[in-house]
Amino acid sequence: MAKTQPAGIDLYSPDTYVPGVPHDAFTRLRHDAPVAWHEEPGGPGFWVVTKHADVCTINRDWETFSSSPTAQLWDPSPEEAAGISLLMLYMDPSRHTRYRLLVNKGFTPRMIGKLQSTIVDRARTIVDEVIERGECDLVTDIAAELPLQAIADLMGVPLDDRHKIFDWTNAMIGGEDPEYQVGENEANDARTEMYVYANALAAEKRKNPTDDIISTLLSAEIDFEGDRHQLSELEFDLFFMLLSVAGSETTRNLISHAMLAFFENPDQWARLLADPGLIDSAVEEMLRWGTPVMHFRRTATRDYELRGEHIAEGDKVLIWYISANRDEDVFDDPFRFDVARTPNDHVAFGGGGPHFCLGANLARMEIRVMFEEMLRRLPDIRQAGEAKRLRSNFINGIKHLPVEFSAGARSGA
Ligand code: HEM
Repeated sequence: MAKTQPAGIDLYSPDTYVPGVPHDAFTRLRHDAPVAWHEEPGGPGFWVVTKHADVCTINRDWETFSSSPTAQLWDPSPEEAAGISLLMLYMDPSRHTRYRLLVNKGFTPRMIGKLQSTIVDRARTIVDEVIERGECDLVTDIAAELPLQAIADLMGVPLDDRHKIFDWTNAMIGGEDPEYQVGENEANDARTEMYVYANALAAEKRKNPTDDIISTLLSAEIDFEGDRHQLSELEFDLFFMLLSVAGSETTRNLISHAMLAFFENPDQWARLLADPGLIDSAVEEMLRWGTPVMHFRRTATRDYELRGEHIAEGDKVLIWYISANRDEDVFDDPFRFDVARTPNDHVAFGGGGPHFCLGANLARMEIRVMFEEMLRRLPDIRQAGEAKRLRSNFINGIKHLPVEFSAGARSGA
């Protein structure tokens, strides 16, 4: 039987996401066509999976749903596929396990705990930089800063260079957005510049090793199926790129979305101000609500039946975290933003399985610390202009969010 796309739904065009996440379309799909076929201009098309339970099943069953050749919608040429096959995000176990073990050490609760006091200081300084003005762009002045500084700390990137990472990741992730555009050439240039930078940093760290992930990676060896080697330049560059993009874009967008949610639900801001003990459940609700990574892709390695639909070997399958996090079967009143929501089994960091977000605990800590600082020092923060959204079908992004607040004094810290 011919596969047909549900009428009136377009999840492919990045324009769909400029006014907002198409939640009406996702709600319709969850009800009427939870495993739906979707056409793709210039491509073979893909399955759209929108229910929480199915997203988790697919995320965990890596033998049937592979992350190779890529976990994103585009289809690489054979040459591109060879290069990106060295990126951990696009590998399956057990090869993936070998690579992930190399960076795991940097993200243990002990390592994240060690970073905490630095992150608290950095959040204080970020608010210091804006507080006397009484207004700022929440995205660029606040939300982007902490994740950038944290990832710079974690990787041992000098702080003065962090804005290079901001520009490069914008060009790579925001490839479809006119503000960062950047055609394909500029996105490639950004990637090349990042690699050149990473290699220079590696040369420096080889001479003067420090206690950070980069130095660990440089001394590490991969041992897989009889092939034992130190990371090649390309392998190292891909790690650098993955950590830079994954560690900064996502958390920045989460903080921005959460603040927008508070502007739209001022009672929830007041509730958190009155009861700061709600911060942990609030952070989980911010993650559910904001879901910065809207989907990832898998490729079926065999034929598979799901809710009566026949997924064929080789088909592309998109698992939509943004939809699963509004699934009525899992969340009571899913369109209510509730800082005290429990349980809250969201899938913002993935639905389980080998690729579950490596930085989840770091991200949670950054979000908590940044909001604690804003609740304390910018309690009357309010929206002062329109939120500008990123044009992308992959990242749920906000580029600008003008805000104002009563001007105050720097902390003097
Ligand atoms: C709110 C913030 C964040 C969100 C929503 C988020 C979301 C995700 C998601 C959905 C995945 C894929 C999960 C899967 O396929 O099962 C992922 C993977 C990953 N994340 Fe995050 N992430 C965040 C912050 C971070 C941070 C701060 C880092 C730190 C560097 C990070 C590093 C990674 C890495 C390295 C992977 C790939 C893991 C692998 O392939 O094994 N993320 N993240």
